[in-house]
Amino acid sequence: MSGTAEILSEEQMAVQKQLMQEIASREDRPRTYHIVTYGCQMNAHDSELIAGMLEEMGLTPAEKREEADFVLFNTCCVRENAERRALGNVTWLNEVKKKRPDMMIAVCGCMVQEKGMAERIIRQYGFVDLAFGTSNLYRFPELFLKALHAEHVVVEVSDRNTVAEGLPARRARRDAAYISIMQGCNNFCTYCIVPYVRGRERSRKMEDILREAEELQAAGVQEVMLLGQNVNSYGAGTQASFPELLQRVDALGIPRIRFMTSHPKDLSDRLIEVMAQARHVLPQFHLPVQSGSDRILMRMNRHYTRAQYLERVQRLREAVPGIGLTTDLIVAFPGETEEDFADTMSLVDRVGYDSAFTFIYSPRVGTQAASFPDQIAPETAKVRIQALIALQEMRQREAMRRFLGTEEEVLVEGLSKRSERFVSGHGTHGVSVTLPGSSRDIGTIVKVRIEEIKNNTLLGSRQEET
Ligand code: SAH
Ligand code: SF4
Ligand code: F3S
Repeated sequence: MSGTAEILSEEQMAVQKQLMQEIASREDRPRTYHIVTYGCQMNAHDSELIAGMLEEMGLTPAEKREEADFVLFNTCCVRENAERRALGNVTWLNEVKKKRPDMMIAVCGCMVQEKGMAERIIRQYGFVDLAFGTSNLYRFPELFLKALHAEHVVVEVSDRNTVAEGLPARRARRDAAYISIMQGCNNFCTYCIVPYVRGRERSRKMEDILREAEELQAAGVQEVMLLGQNVNSYGAGTQASFPELLQRVDALGIPRIRFMTSHPKDLSDRLIEVMAQARHVLPQFHLPVQSGSDRILMRMNRHYTRAQYLERVQRLREAVPGIGLTTDLIVAFPGETEEDFADTMSLVDRVGYDSAFTFIYSPRVGTQAASFPDQIAPETAKVRIQALIALQEMRQREAMRRFLGTEEEVLVEGLSKRSERFVSGHGTHGVSVTLPGSSRDIGTIVKVRIEEIKNNTLLGSRQEET
């Protein structure tokens, strides 16, 4: 399936570059922009790329959406509430647009790519100027220009599985950066809409990824996060593999390397080995399990059993002692019995995650599970998620005790919310850490001795450099 990837040519990219310059020289273009981003890191990174293009078109960022000339909503549709929130905010902004008719409103991202959504936007959200899907990102300058003077909403969605190189990015942080390594997903977990809205798996070339990492390193970036829906299948169908890529990025010497997300079925011994040997890959692993019941895992099309998952966890812990483990969990998947749910609870109890994202199953139109007959009542789902959250919080507090008295290297991200004399960031294991400091520390790595745990955060003192 990887054969369907379409690598865009330099000429195709050059056309868009030229259009950016053309827009920048126009008197009638919007002057400021604001992007509202929903969803996962892929969307966050896409927003950085769009911001990069907008700045090449001469627009500058506006603090508030209601003050901007061009507002873009980069949407997510993984669960129904994500979608509802985005549409609610788009509708709200139309009230502002009524008073400022020159304002341009655009919608992009996964939701636009959903079946029937383009028609719905034309029908119900006629005030929107531009809507485009996930595979047309590189054509944003062209679409923007078209929308500038169009009478009706400009809508562009396609099923192309494109790989675009050389897009400018305006990164949200200077010290840490996302690097997309692959896009799309071929797994078709029965609950998940992502493969339908993000298309088939396709990987970037290793040399392009390494070049981007080197550029970031030269710019002083301390941490990179390699991104993909399923990073373990990076390079599928080619000679390249994720462990190899990780090893090569590690060799560059960027202080901290992370990656997301891994599918348990593809977590190879080789990857664990590379993690154990690497010098800069952080000791943390996000390994979504979804359910602790074999019956449900099978119905979810996850291709691993509870025992196989636990075996992978064990291997990881042996290879990288103290590794920070995090996960995603879904409760009330169709047909989930009390017994199945108890299996999820016992797995969470057994693993002891540093943190977990817990979700109530949300049926997505077009996915297999949405048409399973045995959907679970919302009241049952609520009871289960509350029990799961309570257990996870307890296990999390327990898991965090292993850091007491240890030393963590923290990449300082900003001033602490509680006090100006403190700063906070993340330790190498992925847990959030607060320490004494000032804005001067932001973007630097500080050694911290962990002394206390407070509300899922580690508190510590600075260790003097020797
Ligand atoms: N590619 C990643 C994550 C994709 S979406 C992976 O495979 O792990 C992030 C998380 O959202 C998933 O791990 C899953 O826990 C959750 N999710 C996806 N679809 C969902 C749905 N229909 N209802 C509830 N949660 C869902
Ligand atoms: Fe969705 Fe499964 Fe693909 Fe993750 S692996 S994006 S959960 S289909
Ligand atoms: Fe959402 Fe799309 Fe990410 S559906 S979770 S923004 S890939």
